[in-house]
Amino acid sequence: MSDQGSFFQRDRSWHPPAFTPQYKTSVLRSPQFALLSLENTVSEMTGPHFGHSQLGPLDNDLIRNYMQTGEPIGQRIVVHGRVLDENAKPVPGVLLEFWQANAGGRYRHKKEAYLAPLDPNFGGCGRTITDEEGRYRFRTVKPGAYPWPNGVNDWRPAHIHFSIFGHAFTQRLITQMYFEGDPMIWQCPIVSTIPDRNAVERLVAALDRNNTLPMDALAYKFDIVLRGRRSTFFENRMEGN
Ligand SMILES: [Fe+2]
Repeated sequence: MSDQGSFFQRDRSWHPPAFTPQYKTSVLRSPQFALLSLENTVSEMTGPHFGHSQLGPLDNDLIRNYMQTGEPIGQRIVVHGRVLDENAKPVPGVLLEFWQANAGGRYRHKKEAYLAPLDPNFGGCGRTITDEEGRYRFRTVKPGAYPWPNGVNDWRPAHIHFSIFGHAFTQRLITQMYFEGDPMIWQCPIVSTIPDRNAVERLVAALDRNNTLPMDALAYKFDIVLRGRRSTFFENRMEGN
């Protein structure tokens, strides 16, 4: 086994349950049988690894990475934060992938059915890797809210999807980021599957005036916590090294 400690168990009271009928898709996606508990294997405890060399220079800039004739329409924003583990240690070398609708609430996806127009200059996908202190940052435009076929008239609040690869597959996290002050967060059937209001608030990025770019972009701060290990913290054995 790995020389590092085992991971804390996932706190299932903090995460949404798999079966939540108000979010219709969960009915068929949720397990039909009791879960089995399996030991983690070495590859699950120690991989994957990523290198900065695999990323392009515009991968963390959604304002420019799909530009055809000019910059995309929308509220220009910077999203930044830190990736920490449950012991509050920064996690360097984490691969973050993010995707979102354009400023009108429309995705660039072949199954997208919303009538809002595509923006020819906005792709809506990007990625980056956290630095030595677990920090990440990317530029984009603020996504719009959009309707979706769930109830009769359900709308998603503005959000950015995140896929996060830490240093073990047990740290894999897929989540969504919302924007401070949006009243639609509290009317969303997906958000309402999360049982704890404090857990929902952890998904809401704060407007961060200190990192706003004057005459350019607003900033939002979004910290992400991955599963931590039970081992004692050693300065000479940082996570990811
Ligand atoms: Fe979405």
